[in-house]
Amino acid sequence: MKNILITGASKGIGYATALRFAQQGHQVFALARSESKLEKLSKESVPGKIIPIAIDLTSQKEIDILPQKLGTTFSIDILVNNAGALINKPFMDTDMDDWMHQLQVNLLAPVRLIKGIKGYLKKGSHIVNIGSMGGFQGSAKFPGLAAYSASKGALSIFSECLSTEFSEEGISVNCLCLGAVQTEMLNEAFPGYKAPTQPEEMAGFIADFSLNARSYINGKVIPVALNNPG
Ligand SMILES: NC(=O)c1ccc[n+]([C@@H]2O[C@H](COP(=O)([O-])OP(=O)(O)OC[C@H]3O[C@@H](n4cnc5c(N)ncnc54)[C@H](OP(=O)(O)O)[C@@H]3O)[C@@H](O)[C@H]2O)c1
Repeated sequence: MKNILITGASKGIGYATALRFAQQGHQVFALARSESKLEKLSKESVPGKIIPIAIDLTSQKEIDILPQKLGTTFSIDILVNNAGALINKPFMDTDMDDWMHQLQVNLLAPVRLIKGIKGYLKKGSHIVNIGSMGGFQGSAKFPGLAAYSASKGALSIFSECLSTEFSEEGISVNCLCLGAVQTEMLNEAFPGYKAPTQPEEMAGFIADFSLNARSYINGKVIPVALNNPG
């Protein structure tokens, strides 16, 4: 049984992935802002397998008190930085608040969280950052997604850099750049588009990768898409 912390677990891909981990018997700490949605998630699994923790990951104050909520008697085997936000707006209509918001949620929240819980990450642990095909170099790009894609591109380079610093401690870091998955966020990015992949299907891949890939793959930015946008 592994201890797994996953962010953005209140809906979409994170919700399905948290459930998948719990179904496999792992202990899951599920983070997001929406307490009611996390409670619903927790009730869907075996009692005690998913521990909901309501937190705004853009708040340094809330990250600072996270260890009090987790307790100190265990280590985290897998951290999945899945929480994300997307603003769909032509570049010239975006203001600096839009850019700050994208960077806060998609890049700086993982940075803050990893710093905040580093003490829980021991030899053999795996950090999986959830990037996007929009932030994968050379992929097709789409109007309205400059801030989102740039923030996800930064997350992928951050993942590569972090892996070099953590490898001596035996901590692996990878970034999965997802293609289209049928969620609220996808509808925001591509209204009306039907994705070839459901959250439960992507959850299966993310769970398998998080649990098994670290012995073979480290510091990699990996496209996970049938086509582009998805
Ligand atoms: N769906 C796709 O096609 C697709 C494609 C490529 C990449 N991705 C990436 O996959 C990840 C999951 O996407 P999704 O489609 O499942 O999105 P989603 O349904 O919109 O879910 C986003 C999750 O992030 C959480 N979140 C947002 N801001 C937060 C904050 N400040 N603090 C804590 N949690 C926060 C949300 O919870 P609360 O609102 O309750 O806080 C929610 O649980 C994202 O990183 C996204 O960029 C998705």
